[in-house]
Amino acid sequence: MKEIVFATNNQHKLNELRAIVGDRFRILSLAEIGCHDDIPETADTLEGNALMKARYVKEHYGYDCFADDTGLMVDALGGAPGVYSARYAGPGHDSVANVNLLLKNMEGKTDRSARFITVIALIMGDEEYTFEGRVEGHILTERHGEAGFGYDPIFQPVESDCSFACMSSEAKNAISHRGRATAKLVKKLTE
Ligand code: IMP
Repeated sequence: MKEIVFATNNQHKLNELRAIVGDRFRILSLAEIGCHDDIPETADTLEGNALMKARYVKEHYGYDCFADDTGLMVDALGGAPGVYSARYAGPGHDSVANVNLLLKNMEGKTDRSARFITVIALIMGDEEYTFEGRVEGHILTERHGEAGFGYDPIFQPVESDCSFACMSSEAKNAISHRGRATAKLVKKLTE
């Protein structure tokens, strides 16, 4: 079976990908190839960061690899938090702090439109590919729902009348940024 590295140690993301790809590829985590490095993610675009991570694994470990990067772009904030979504409230802060800061910065804003974007970079042999998935929606004025993670409780996709945190993971994956980018990746891997 062909092997490919997913440049993550996020078990949730690994399980999701393995379930979709089935036995067509063996998907290895960073830990499984003995990579415990702090891989640089210093680009100022999602695509740049995804490519940086995938290239790092290819160059240092020799494996074909894919890597993802996600951001929440809010129009009234000029596209913030964007590529800095994970550390919006500063280094060492968690999702609770990120959501609190975003709600504060959105106080009084009438334009609440936003989108999640995921870019996945894939390196197979000498070829590089990128796949983008996005979902449009708006930022709620307070948290709704208990499921999901990150900004899910305050993001309502246009396809739904509740936040991502009110949806089952199947319903979210069917329309989400990551689900849509992943579908393009899987199509490439299995063609
Ligand atoms: P990452 O690139 O997957 O690490 O995502 C960057 C940041 O975006 C994370 O720290 C999360 O806060 C946020 N994020 C990514 N995907 C989602 C999602 O599906 N729902 C809510 N927040 C997300």
